[in-house]
Amino acid sequence: MPLLALTIIYNTTNTKFIQNVFKCLNMSKVYWKDTLLECTRQVQKQIKPLLKTLKQPQPNLGIGAGGDPIKQIDLTAENAIIRTLTEHQASFTLISEESGVKKYGANPSKNVVTVDPIDGTTNLMRSIPFYATSIAVSTKPTLNSVHTALVSDLFHCITYTAEKEKGAYRGNERIMPSENSSLEEAVLGIDLNTYKIKKIAPQLTSLIEKTKHIRHFGANALELCYVADGTIDAFIDIRGKLRTTDVAAAWLIMKEAGAIVTTLEEKPLRTKLSPKQKVAFVASGNPKIHKTILKMLEFRKGN
Ligand code: IPD
Ligand code: CA
Repeated sequence: MPLLALTIIYNTTNTKFIQNVFKCLNMSKVYWKDTLLECTRQVQKQIKPLLKTLKQPQPNLGIGAGGDPIKQIDLTAENAIIRTLTEHQASFTLISEESGVKKYGANPSKNVVTVDPIDGTTNLMRSIPFYATSIAVSTKPTLNSVHTALVSDLFHCITYTAEKEKGAYRGNERIMPSENSSLEEAVLGIDLNTYKIKKIAPQLTSLIEKTKHIRHFGANALELCYVADGTIDAFIDIRGKLRTTDVAAAWLIMKEAGAIVTTLEEKPLRTKLSPKQKVAFVASGNPKIHKTILKMLEFRKGN
């Protein structure tokens, strides 16, 4: 194809038109952000009828790759995502909390799509209006190769997106984290959802004592987006229990917004992406509050 024609196609902003041109030419170019937005629209559409059946007895669908019982609504959301991606001619390796690792298309090692179809399934099943779909696209099964991300609040229809080096957005609005560095004024998210609470509680006591407002809403991908847009000042999950499928998309959204995410040792969060891989981290709106939080966690660790 002549170079001029290709240049015109690449420069036009009508992505649907471009996709159709590529389809006709039997070439595939996936516009990831648009494709992920379409995934979330399809998830909304497909889960809608199931939302009316949540009080009815649920079928036993076994245990998902991430280790939790699979709900019909999780699978429905996952299927909607896979169908949308394949309809957009994507070749990819899926890393999902439900189905585990699966390959799709002619060249599946080209793209990695890490998915938590529903983050906050318990909230959804109990009609607590805080649950999300989380999808991250990367070149390798590693967190730091994620280049496009989406976390969508399915109840409020608010979608967070980010592309590498292009910033983070809530809908069309660019987002930035909080500048507040005072624990007295801060709203901190802390996930205390673990049977091993006795082990981690001592490390958290002084931080909780010094912080006026502690929260946990029950869908960590979305809570991390709240750090990205400054709704809360920081989110702490030191359980070592959170799966990378919950974190992959929110990590890029936080990074692109300008939030700080590190391990408890203040190292960058580097991890492979897999349904079984777990992480512990502190995510904060700014370096000052981040240092304060890490210091308080460290202080208790040493005592
Ligand atoms: C859960 C939520 C919850 C966190 C759990 C996660 P899921 O995700 O993010 O807030 O405490 O550790 O597993 O299971 O609903 O996808
Ligand atoms: Ca889930």
